Amino acid sequence: MLDDPDNLRFTRVPEPVPPGFARAWLEIYEEERRAGTREGFAIVGDDGEFLGLALAPKIDRETRTAELGYVIAPEARGRGVATDALGRLTVWAFEELEMIRLELLISVDNGASKKVAERCGYVREGVLRSAYFKQGRREDTEIWSRLATDP
Ligand SMILES: CC(C)(COP(=O)(O)OP(=O)(O)OC[C@H]1O[C@@H](n2cnc3c(N)ncnc32)[C@H](O)[C@@H]1OP(=O)(O)O)[C@@H](O)C(=O)NCCC(=O)NCCS
Repeated sequence: MLDDPDNLRFTRVPEPVPPGFARAWLEIYEEERRAGTREGFAIVGDDGEFLGLALAPKIDRETRTAELGYVIAPEARGRGVATDALGRLTVWAFEELEMIRLELLISVDNGASKKVAERCGYVREGVLRSAYFKQGRREDTEIWSRLATDP
């Protein structure tokens, strides 16, 4: 996953990937899971194969707002895995976390991710122009949302 050009292009994984990053990333998720401020799920196929990650990188229980995200293993793309995963993640965030507002931050250039968002009932609110993305990179970033009250 850390060698894939689309993951490096469209996620906040630092570039170049520092040594030990995978372990450090897991530790942050473990720590913040305990604090209730992040959550991460593996997406696993019927036969147990690893397909990707469904993530809640920011959970704010006070404002009942969460940011969600998804990364699909390159060999599992293009067959609806992200759409299925975001659908399930959305239901989980509304029903189990009792969030009111869910957000997705998507590069203007990430056509596949925008399609996933739209199919899962998210609404494009606008573009955060030249938003800070990661080391030395700023990016025009679309913000999409879905509300608990949306149809
Ligand atoms: C974006 C990503 C999650 C999509 O995962 P996926 O499982 O392939 O997505 P799905 O199959 O559910 O749907 C993707 C749809 O976008 C379409 N698509 C692919 N590239 C596209 C593009 N450049 N522009 C528009 N649509 C595109 C696909 O054809 C598919 O639609 P279809 O089913 O009508 O053919 C995956 O490519 C990925 O992991 N990318 C790298 C990490 C990333 O970008 N994560 C999201 C950060 S916001």
